Amino acid sequence: MPSYPDEPFRIKVVEPIRRTTRAEREQIIKAARYNIFKVPSSDVTVDLLTDSGTSAMSDNQWAGMMHGDEAYACARSYYSLEAAVREIFGFGHFVPTHQGRAAENILCTMLINDGQHVPNNMHFDTTMANVSARGGIPVNLVIDEGMDPTSLHPFKGNMDIGKLRTFIRKVGAANVPFGLTTVTNNAGGGQPVSMGNIRATAEIYHEYGIPFFIDACRYAENSYFIKMREEGYAGKTPLEIAQEMFGYADGCTMSAKKDALVNIGGFLCLNDDGLFQRAQQELILREGFPTYGGLAGRDLEAIALGLWEGLEEAYLAYRLGQTAYLTGRLVEAGVPCVVPAGGHAVYIDVKSFLPHIPQPQFPGWALSVEAYIEGGIRCVELGSVAFATKDDNGLWTYPEMEMVRLAIPRRVYTQTHLDYVVETLTALRDRKDAIGGYRMTYEPPFLRHFTAEFEPLRPDDA
Ligand code: F0G
Repeated sequence: MPSYPDEPFRIKVVEPIRRTTRAEREQIIKAARYNIFKVPSSDVTVDLLTDSGTSAMSDNQWAGMMHGDEAYACARSYYSLEAAVREIFGFGHFVPTHQGRAAENILCTMLINDGQHVPNNMHFDTTMANVSARGGIPVNLVIDEGMDPTSLHPFKGNMDIGKLRTFIRKVGAANVPFGLTTVTNNAGGGQPVSMGNIRATAEIYHEYGIPFFIDACRYAENSYFIKMREEGYAGKTPLEIAQEMFGYADGCTMSAKKDALVNIGGFLCLNDDGLFQRAQQELILREGFPTYGGLAGRDLEAIALGLWEGLEEAYLAYRLGQTAYLTGRLVEAGVPCVVPAGGHAVYIDVKSFLPHIPQPQFPGWALSVEAYIEGGIRCVELGSVAFATKDDNGLWTYPEMEMVRLAIPRRVYTQTHLDYVVETLTALRDRKDAIGGYRMTYEPPFLRHFTAEFEPLRPDDA
């Protein structure tokens, strides 16, 4: 049996969990029109919907919040954050934003013209939507192993360097306003990207004069994977690894809600002076003055401290160990998961688990509903609801991987909670052939998983 890592902390504040019965949950999910995003969190037993904004802050971060300087301009807390961002990320400029997608919005607004392409190893939903919202075309160029849930490649988040070069040549560098790489690759199983791959990606973008940005929200977890798995990095600290990684890029977008261990916040880093000036203007228009960017001074303080805590080796060993534990236990129980374990989440390979439900009937969605009914577990579908795309003729293309993600909030759940998740999914495994598909009754125009509504298909509908 996989071993559970020691927690490098004690618990000082607790939050009660209300238990619900199965009959209650059947009513609750029906009232939520079978969309797990609409279920009140007080009706959820173990909430694995996301690792974003769900971290438990440390006593030091809470103390830091009391020191937050709430001045409108040039608050002390801005300088605390600036010092941390400068040392870890190293870019010439940064602006705080209220969360990651606001940084993406500013970048996309400044750089994308209609019909231009933005390559990435894999876009997550908000980057994909922000690129599209500006008339851009998001392109995923991850290595083939990254799309194979069973491949044991150590860096399944890597960009396919050959595909990237061919793609830029095909569309022309002038049609690529900037290039991205996402660390870790959230849409592809939370899989890491190697330093060698980041370096090679940067070289290609720069060879064609294309600015290179890192979607950095899980950069600390990625750095620890590099330390564990990549030759030449075992003796380096996660900080040194992060510094090298960002040294290859021209900027980054950051959701502090992940590896900075806070509940809200983000930032955009850039080297280019002119672009920084434009970013400030965008910020003033939509987010706030450039030294607070839509956040309270106390939030800036908590991010500054959280960035450092998120790079501590004992914490990162525990963090990745917890994900590996849950993945290992589920695989042992016969629930197929993407392997090796990713950083922040376990990804169930739904095509293998529920092969009898075709993608147009949303098998991942069905599994996420059943996990709630069975044990009050909230997880998220990353499959045909979140990532299917429709062409101009109304024809749907379904994603190659159909996954359900069990994202682990940072420093929140114990081994017992994770064992309860294993028990629940083991019970689902035993009745999986009786799980049926869903029909969408309300389809929003984009990011549809957040607000779509569904009903279960009856056996004779299928
Ligand atoms: N990039 C990646 C790779 C993400 O995973 C997210 C958010 C964002 C950007 C946007 O950041 O939420 O602060 O605006 N991912 C969350 C998730 C929502 O559940 O994985 P944000």
